[in-house]
Amino acid sequence: MNIGTLLIHNAGTVDAATGALSTPVFQASTFDQSVSFKAEGAGVEREFDYARSGNPTRKALEHTIAALEGGTNGYAFSSGIAAVSSVLGILSTGDHIVAAEDIYGGSYRIINTFFKRWGLESTAVDASNLDDIKRAITPKTKALFLETPSNPLLKITDLNAACAIAREAGLISIVDNTFMTPYLQRPIENGADIVIHSATKFLGGHSDVLAGLAVTRTEALGREVYRVQNGFGAVLGPWDSWLTLRGVKTLKARLAMQQKTALSIAQRLQQHKNVEAVYYPGLEGFTSKPVHDAQARGAGAVLSFKTKTTEQALRFLGKTRLAAAAVSLGGVETIASYPVRMSHASIPKQERERLGITDTLIRISTGLEDAEDLIADFEAALAEE
Ligand SMILES: Cc1ncc(COP(=O)(O)O)c(C=O)c1O
Repeated sequence: MNIGTLLIHNAGTVDAATGALSTPVFQASTFDQSVSFKAEGAGVEREFDYARSGNPTRKALEHTIAALEGGTNGYAFSSGIAAVSSVLGILSTGDHIVAAEDIYGGSYRIINTFFKRWGLESTAVDASNLDDIKRAITPKTKALFLETPSNPLLKITDLNAACAIAREAGLISIVDNTFMTPYLQRPIENGADIVIHSATKFLGGHSDVLAGLAVTRTEALGREVYRVQNGFGAVLGPWDSWLTLRGVKTLKARLAMQQKTALSIAQRLQQHKNVEAVYYPGLEGFTSKPVHDAQARGAGAVLSFKTKTTEQALRFLGKTRLAAAAVSLGGVETIASYPVRMSHASIPKQERERLGITDTLIRISTGLEDAEDLIADFEAALAEE
């Protein structure tokens, strides 16, 4: 089935017991086991016993994301960062990971604080440069952590090549696919072993749920992730699983329109006199566009731009009437974020500047408003007083 069909006809579409076209919200923390204590029920084991270990609504979402990403097993967590930390939880003290240097700031923070404290070493690399990845691998390296397009400058990593390097070195390759979603990019097809999502973003799609997902290429890796999910317990609740399932059904329609708008805005911003640079893989001439086009079906709905001065950036954020100046992305409403104060505030300033995350950088996630209205609003917000 094509992905658009799969988004609708997935594990969460029809309730097996009632035929309902929406998976029920099983708001239950525990499940009766008495049948297994009765003589006639000896040997009978119910599928669910306790909601941390499994819940039917969560399971529907977990099956859905596994099918969408083309993996064997899916897991749903209480946030994207819970998915990241639970996946990294399959590694051990003394292990080393190679991570792209411009991953989501919160992922950078847990790798460089909590996991470091527990003895997981890491090296940050420019993952758009395959030689950098190769050079960083040591005998202790166990995993490669990627995000492409990267956050917030949308640098591209060649997934086929990077995952092949990882495989050859015996590493688990982990890809945060939040910006693309399985509608636009399916990293397991490019060789990734584990795919992660902040489903808070495009999959949920309505800025009303915090959720994380992970999908594994194999059952064996799935069992390892499950051990951490059940052990750490950062599971997604039934309501939030349901909201995410509902969001997934409209992903294609939303993202198709949102990325069209993103391209129009990126093209207009490129011509604006107060704009220094625009970062969007849909723009002709964008670095590594051919690599992105070969591995993704579209450029997505996140773009970044730099104004010429910090004042212009701050004025834009204060003056825009249609974009919410807010953390997050992927909702139906356009969001303008200021990475130095928001998603990347936890990265030391010097390191941020080295990465190009300056005080003039604004990240836009386009929503479902009409593109012409957004363009008019952005022009007004960029205009001099
Ligand atoms: C690419 C990416 N990965 C992970 C996360 C973390 O997700 P959450 O905020 O749902 O914990 C985010 C959040 O902004 C993100 O943008």
